[in-house]
Amino acid sequence: MIIGIPKEIKPAENRVGMTPSGVLELTKAGHTVYVQSGAGVGTDFFDEDYIGAGAQILPTIEDVYATAEMIIKVKEPIEPEYKLIKENQLLFTYFHFASCEALTNAMIEQKAICLSYETVETPDRRLPLLIPMSEVAGRMATQEGAKYLERTYRGRGILMGGVPGVPPARVLVIGGGVVGTQAAKIAAGMGADVTIMDLNLERLRYLDDTMPANVHTQVGNEMRIREAIQENDLIIGAVLIPGAKAPKLITRDMLPTMRQGTVLVDVAIDQGGCFETSKPTTHDDPTYIIDDVIHYTVANMPGAVPFTSTLALTNATLPYAMQLANKGWVKACNENSALKLGLNIVKGEVVYRGVSEAFDLPYVPVEAVLQKEAVEI
Ligand SMILES: NC(=O)c1ccc[n+]([C@@H]2O[C@H](COP(=O)([O-])OP(=O)(O)OC[C@H]3O[C@@H](n4cnc5c(N)ncnc54)[C@H](O)[C@@H]3O)[C@@H](O)[C@H]2O)c1
Repeated sequence: MIIGIPKEIKPAENRVGMTPSGVLELTKAGHTVYVQSGAGVGTDFFDEDYIGAGAQILPTIEDVYATAEMIIKVKEPIEPEYKLIKENQLLFTYFHFASCEALTNAMIEQKAICLSYETVETPDRRLPLLIPMSEVAGRMATQEGAKYLERTYRGRGILMGGVPGVPPARVLVIGGGVVGTQAAKIAAGMGADVTIMDLNLERLRYLDDTMPANVHTQVGNEMRIREAIQENDLIIGAVLIPGAKAPKLITRDMLPTMRQGTVLVDVAIDQGGCFETSKPTTHDDPTYIIDDVIHYTVANMPGAVPFTSTLALTNATLPYAMQLANKGWVKACNENSALKLGLNIVKGEVVYRGVSEAFDLPYVPVEAVLQKEAVEI
């Protein structure tokens, strides 16, 4: 298969769709990989690295889209890319269609095959291509939170691990899924006194068994949150209700009860945020202060660490990309139910119910489309 890796053009996006080591695996399997010149520079991968992995370099994004049968990237295409996408071209990337009608309509119009990272789902309901970014965001949440606790940033001026004779910082993590677990692990490693709150008692049992001794678990509810926010220095919001907006667990009226310089990191901001006062920020200007409480609410946290994020993403996407390249998308999706669930739009038809419902578009079951394609092949 002919595969194309374009440079991301969304503002402030430094990740790239595949590392040179991922490209090497694809070229070793007999595929032809074209990489846009400079596609990896934001991640510290250079054209020579890709050439060494067997890729060929194309000068422009137009060349990559015009040449490739399958495009592998990171972010959803943005407006200047729409017209570059060819009929029947397979696009393997994050799309988040339900949040962008213009993108949905454009992909329908271009008659591309859109396989979305975020809806690839294994039979045990895991989202293997979202997990790596949650892992990055979770670990980063603690790193960022620790920084903003410093007085320079108007934080409480407390060191995460304390020192002998002085107690450590107290960290509350609300939501004990992928993000929350990673955040708690890093906070515990820094020596903080950590509490993870979740509604799922089974999950808390698991965390209690596996986490270090300085991590405690608690079932979350409003009263416990009201108490806990008065005592904790860093509070990380990491809840998710699949398919829904995040619940507002810390409300505006609670802010004055918190200590001056408390830091809130709302990782769930991409789902609307789990603190009432959260509004999305960017890496250029990541924080704002309300009632002396620092809010860190960057919607695309992994974008700040493109090296780690690109490697983590390729680790997760490569096995699926390899199946798509080796078998073609129809056979690969027929044989792998996780990949099949990644199909959102196929040659002008919406095959993912969430997308059809979001914009009141006709829905065609994915099985019907795959059956039709298999007959045509
Ligand atoms: N800002 C970013 O850059 C970024 C990056 C990755 C993920 N995220 C977001 O982080 C959030 C968490 O993602 P995840 O992968 O950890 O999800 P997850 O499904 O693994 O975990 C979510 C956890 O929240 C718990 N939960 C739900 N409602 C709760 C409540 N009211 N109180 C306490 N716990 C509750 C669930 O039981 C679950 O354990 C999501 O909103 C995700 O979109 C943001």
